[in-house]
Amino acid sequence: MKKKVSRMLAATALLALVGTPLLLAEEGEGAALYAKKCAMCHGKDGVAKTMAANSGNFNDAEWQKGITLETVVENIAKGKGKMPKYEGKLTPEQITAIAEYVKSM
Ligand code: HEC
Repeated sequence: MKKKVSRMLAATALLALVGTPLLLAEEGEGAALYAKKCAMCHGKDGVAKTMAANSGNFNDAEWQKGITLETVVENIAKGKGKMPKYEGKLTPEQITAIAEYVKSM
């Protein structure tokens, strides 16, 4: 009985260890990359800071209506105005993950 419990505990601990990075990669990758690469200019909540002057606010419903996922991907890959381009620095998958996160704000 005692052995069974400790085996269950070990399995739970393993799941917690393995589960976290998996979740990060699948659901949270876009959010995590956004926080690291974009939030300093576009704000954690999508409200553009001075460094992202000319950019719309990503949490604005009107802005969301006016931009497609494809355009966000292109803006990230090629850059825009003073915004640096990210192609070559991020993989296409990472760029898509960030764009999907931006479109979900
Ligand atoms: C150094 C500051 C800076 C960083 C970092 C930055 N941006 Fe920008 N971004 C800007 C500026 C400035 C503009 C406005 C460009 C223009 O139209 O002149 C902009 C524009 C945009 C636009 C178009 C907005 C619109 O209203 O058309 C999108 C989408 C965007 N950025 C997404 C991102 C994402 C996603 C990241 C992270 C991968 C990122 N940006 C990183 C400064 C930044």
